[in-house]
Amino acid sequence: MTAAEKTKPVFDFPVLNGKRLLLVIAGGIAAYKSLVLIRRLREQGATVRVILTEGGAQFVTPLAVAALSEDRVYQDLFALTTESEMGHIQLSRAADLVVVAPATADLLAKMAAGLADDLASTALLATDKPVLVAPAMNGQMWAHPATESNMCVLAGRGVRRVGPNTGELACGETGAGRMAEPEEILAAIAAYFDTLTLGSGPLPLSGRRALVTSGPTVEPIDPVRYITNRSSGRQGHAIARALARLGAQTTLVSGPTNEPDPPGVQVIRIETAMQMLAACQGSLPVEIAICAAAVADWRVKGVAGHKLKKDKGELPLLELVENPDILAEISRPGKNRPALVVGFAAETQCVIEHATAKLARKGCDWIVANNVGAGTGTFGGARNTVHILRAQPSGGAIVEDWPELSKVSVGERLAVAVADHFASGATGR
Ligand code: C5P
Repeated sequence: MTAAEKTKPVFDFPVLNGKRLLLVIAGGIAAYKSLVLIRRLREQGATVRVILTEGGAQFVTPLAVAALSEDRVYQDLFALTTESEMGHIQLSRAADLVVVAPATADLLAKMAAGLADDLASTALLATDKPVLVAPAMNGQMWAHPATESNMCVLAGRGVRRVGPNTGELACGETGAGRMAEPEEILAAIAAYFDTLTLGSGPLPLSGRRALVTSGPTVEPIDPVRYITNRSSGRQGHAIARALARLGAQTTLVSGPTNEPDPPGVQVIRIETAMQMLAACQGSLPVEIAICAAAVADWRVKGVAGHKLKKDKGELPLLELVENPDILAEISRPGKNRPALVVGFAAETQCVIEHATAKLARKGCDWIVANNVGAGTGTFGGARNTVHILRAQPSGGAIVEDWPELSKVSVGERLAVAVADHFASGATGR
């Protein structure tokens, strides 16, 4: 990999690349999160033009918005220069999607009533583009029948919504009204563009159930110490997201990671390999199982109920026992055996040879093999170069080499390969 390639942006949501967003930032404390949203959108290759309301400018400065969006900030309905350079009508229409974040109770009420007394409300009335709102307000205001009825009116007009979440609110109360996190808004924006790309017909994996394992497992030594590994969960989470995006009813069983929950996926959080096995077995039957987790090979026999003391003058002896092989368990023939079971093989040498042996040993249908040797940056990194091995009835495997891709793109390509597999009428072994 050249230095230039190493620094090339990784598109977590390739669908956002080149999209034009008009972001309306209204007056709520959550406006600070919109600065992060602008940054995330820019990282994905989208352009962001911002309308900042008078209230919004009380919470974030036009300078910060301009610096992050790398554009001027639109604030005034009657600004002569704005109107001569770009009228509010044009501003409202020169975008692929209008996002209102934070969407205050006041602005939602104006939208529902069709008021147009400032640049934001005027642009929202004048736009012919779809609108996504991320409401943010006090819990009582969100629960008020007036807001409820305004949201109903807006939903009836096709306005999309993300959040609000339940949690601690800026006013000190707890309840529903917290603006969705920037990553959730980003996912909702991507999901909107996805529906355009994928069309409105049935999705290729709709009606199918999928199970994905992801992340590391954590094996306790005593109440405070544990054994784990460096898996980030990025690849597994990307696969779960991609399967759900193609319509599969997806369950993700994951060890602790910093990855956000993939939209539309049921996430079961576990820590140990034994818990992962139980959660997987509890999620069967499924048609598709993809084991991307880095399951710890061993766990400590007889976990201490108390913190092991080091002042006894002797080193503790940790006796290890082997963990169950979840992939092999899922692949075992039987009535619950998924039609397609995919495993991963992280190798540091003789990748194809070792992966072919693993395919036979585990009894799965496909193996996604990658080189995780020092210097590849795969473990914990954002990119991956993989080879897909498909078991052949006659033994051996057909190998397909994929180019270096972001882990998100590997997930998307794998989901498409799974969909193609089912579309071709194949049912696994
Ligand atoms: O044997 P190895 O750890 O190299 O196998 C990797 C594959 O097996 C991955 O798909 C991983 O998720 C799965 N695996 C498992 N349970 C284990 C060990 C590995 O599901 N205990």
